[in-house]
Amino acid sequence: MKLQRAVAEISLGNLSSNLQLVRKKTGNKNILAVVKADAYGHGAVTISRHLLKNGVKMLGVACAAEGIELRNAGITVPIIVFFDTRNIEAFAEYNLTPVVFDLNTAKKISKAASGSKKLIPVHVKIDTGMGRVGFNHEEALTAVPEIASYENLRIEGIMSHFSDADLKNKNFARRQIKSFNRILSELKYAGLSFKYIHMANSAAVMTLPEAHFNTVRPGIMLYGYGCCEGEKLKPVMSVKSGVLFVKHVPEGTPISYCRTFVTKRRSAIATIALGYADGYDRRLSNKGRVIINGKFAPVAGRVCMDTFMADVTGIPNVSGESEVILIGSKGSRKITAQDIADDIGTIPYEVLTSIGKRVERVYK
Ligand SMILES: Cc1ncc(COP(=O)(O)O)c(C=O)c1O
Repeated sequence: MKLQRAVAEISLGNLSSNLQLVRKKTGNKNILAVVKADAYGHGAVTISRHLLKNGVKMLGVACAAEGIELRNAGITVPIIVFFDTRNIEAFAEYNLTPVVFDLNTAKKISKAASGSKKLIPVHVKIDTGMGRVGFNHEEALTAVPEIASYENLRIEGIMSHFSDADLKNKNFARRQIKSFNRILSELKYAGLSFKYIHMANSAAVMTLPEAHFNTVRPGIMLYGYGCCEGEKLKPVMSVKSGVLFVKHVPEGTPISYCRTFVTKRRSAIATIALGYADGYDRRLSNKGRVIINGKFAPVAGRVCMDTFMADVTGIPNVSGESEVILIGSKGSRKITAQDIADDIGTIPYEVLTSIGKRVERVYK
């Protein structure tokens, strides 16, 4: 029985091609592929398996629960957990690698590890200007050696994160690299070295080779978005739905909640089976557009929870059989997550990670 209402088609071929570009830019550096937030909405288990098949050796997730999902799917490579200070017991139990950025949590992890008689690998986070989590320069010089002395922890990696490596002006990003380098050399002087050193997100993979160290940490570029015109990133996700209903209405007909759209002519209006609860942002009301039968059709009126309307006047043969492309292309017509992000004043990360659970992921 086919219960599909809307699909997100995921092109594993495009994922491979984007991964190839990471390799081209970084040579033989280790790739810690970022698959947090369900691989930016693409489905963490299948995406991770595909990346591992193509030579990726480490994965990055936001929290222990995301790591556990991958472990339960049989994935055995190191999984780095970027932001979790609560689920301490899970790190040892599921062989996860937490990122530590405060001594209190490091102590708790060490204590939990001593109970289970395990040696927990950790990566330490240095804040060089992101202002989110991490030891600052001064703290790092005392905290990192202290963590290194904890019996049940082994510092395997050290990392920092860029605030604005995607900007054209790289001054601040370069200052962050300089600061990270200074901390690394002072820690080296104190006798500490690290198996994995990483700082580069996608923007830095593409534009800041001096930030590649021995490991890179790309996310968005794997999924086909990011900076750098001219580079051949290929969007991995297309989102498609169908037409529920078509009506032909006279001029002056109000459409959807609060009548923000009123037809200016005799019109054909199609109701599409997807809404803001599926991640089709409500700010696309009277703003977005879709592709139906190879033609653009503008969103008419407010986007609803499960549906929205599109003005298909003049588009031939729109029916319940018509495919509606929300993200993707048909012939020369194309809509990207970047286009949608531009329409509503956000970034493609948010557009992709908002695509909801009711939209079935189909892998190609
Ligand atoms: C700690 C960390 N590393 C790497 C990334 C990947 O960044 P991007 O998707 O810009 O490549 C993220 C994403 O937000 C992150 O939080």
